[in-house]
Amino acid sequence: MTVKEPIVLKDLPKDLDSNRLPKHIAVIMDGNGRWAKRRGRPRIMGHQRGVDTLKDLLRCCRDWGISALTAYAFSTENWGRPLEEVDFLMTLFERVLRRELQEMMAENVKIRFVGNLDVLSPSLQSEIFRAMADTENNTGVQFTVATNYGGRQEIVEGCRAIAQQVQQGLLKLEDINESIFEGYLYTKGIPDPDLLIRTSGEMRISNFLLWQLAYAEIYVTPTLWPDFDRHCLHKALLDYQQRERRFGKVGKT
Ligand code: FPP
Repeated sequence: MTVKEPIVLKDLPKDLDSNRLPKHIAVIMDGNGRWAKRRGRPRIMGHQRGVDTLKDLLRCCRDWGISALTAYAFSTENWGRPLEEVDFLMTLFERVLRRELQEMMAENVKIRFVGNLDVLSPSLQSEIFRAMADTENNTGVQFTVATNYGGRQEIVEGCRAIAQQVQQGLLKLEDINESIFEGYLYTKGIPDPDLLIRTSGEMRISNFLLWQLAYAEIYVTPTLWPDFDRHCLHKALLDYQQRERRFGKVGKT
């Protein structure tokens, strides 16, 4: 067994309170296409740059003591994009996984994919399962990639699985509660995000983590995803630390 280094906080901006950081950040990485278009480049260039942004953010989470990051890489609706863009994205996921696995191991990242993975190409599935298996015992940042993910689909699949258990007499109807139900979601075992960041200004959650985002703070920035760097994350965290999280209860005032 390899001995992993203890987490050492690095370069946390002084105006951030290390005790009030989100434990889990979810990101909707929007604006890649527009970023490329503004530079007169094909949309796929934006996705390529988006990967670099994601890598940097993952490192930033490690440095600042944020234990989980979930990224919306491909929604069930994204199949409706032009075929060449879908093909590019699928090849990009595969290439990134192959290229970055060693580094993820070295940086102690634990990667997990959530979504309906069965319909992905066999070669992509095999890279995904290899990366998940190899990094399973890593204890650093938990990095979740939502691929062919749809929040409604996840809930319907969960309902179907739970109904089957009831039908087979393995679960009693009266025993179903929120915590049992969570065990039937793709994100089983992953704590809910505290903060959702959406880039490029759109005020929507676009079928992302519909159950899990119930009490997340939402931060929307006009910055396009490829430009979302550490300074932008710092700003988002300052904003988050101004919020009073009440979880439906009465506030302090
Ligand atoms: C949305 O921008 C972005 C996507 C649908 C793809 C994001 C995927 C990555 C950055 C790759 C991640 C890779 C791994 C392996 C985790 P958009 O195309 O909708 O931008 P637009 O709104 O400007 O058109």
